[in-house]
Amino acid sequence: MNLTLKIWRQKNADDKGKMVDYPISNISEDMSFLEMLDVLNQELIDKGEEPVAFDHDCREGICGSCSLYINGRAHGPDTLITACQLHMRSFKDGDTIYIEPWRATAFPVIKDLIVDRTSFDRIQQAGGFISVNTSGNTQDANAIPIEKQNADMAFDAATCIGCGACVAACKNSSAMLFVSAKVSQFALLPQGRVEATDRVLNMVKQMDDEGFGNCTNTGACEVECPKGISLENIARMNREYLAASFKG
Ligand code: SF4
Ligand code: FES
Repeated sequence: MNLTLKIWRQKNADDKGKMVDYPISNISEDMSFLEMLDVLNQELIDKGEEPVAFDHDCREGICGSCSLYINGRAHGPDTLITACQLHMRSFKDGDTIYIEPWRATAFPVIKDLIVDRTSFDRIQQAGGFISVNTSGNTQDANAIPIEKQNADMAFDAATCIGCGACVAACKNSSAMLFVSAKVSQFALLPQGRVEATDRVLNMVKQMDDEGFGNCTNTGACEVECPKGISLENIARMNREYLAASFKG
């Protein structure tokens, strides 16, 4: 395939940034999207030009680092996959492909297509954990009976990989889907109930402090989430927050 790539180039957080055109040829439809970017970068390096900076680690949909906005959609045109799982067979010969970073105040651009998502880390640090005694007499987690339905919902919430596509897809740059997944995975299990009140209050406060916007109720986050995290988690977080506010 021969393609035209229009890629966001930005030297650093202070640079204004701009779209730059890159024609690329002989791309196999069996390549992954990131392999196609590898080919482009090798060509740029061979010409003595600066390669395009983009984030990646696992390249198999686990780490959540490949935060690319492709043709106006978070993680590209396919659903329930990350950008690293996207293949070039999803495009046609002659296509023009627009590639941009996530755009949100709380995700400032570091360089080109890489954004700073440490705001998510700080939200996690505010409550995305349980405190357990690990001194040697810890109770086996499997010894506590848990309803199958709750175990399944907690597991589904825990599949959130923290990629930030929900924020990028939201016109308010809301992080509600991410935070609600992290709150839900603990709220649904007895081990998470002990700190449930503080957890939801602290995580929501940190989310607001980081500059994420309010939920739009449009559901764009759920549509673009590569892990299919359900909007039901936001409803659960709202209930948790209301109950915690009365207690707190
Ligand atoms: S909720 Fe989905 S889109 Fe948002 S960070 Fe988690 S996996 Fe990514
Ligand atoms: S590189 Fe890890 S999810 Fe894409």
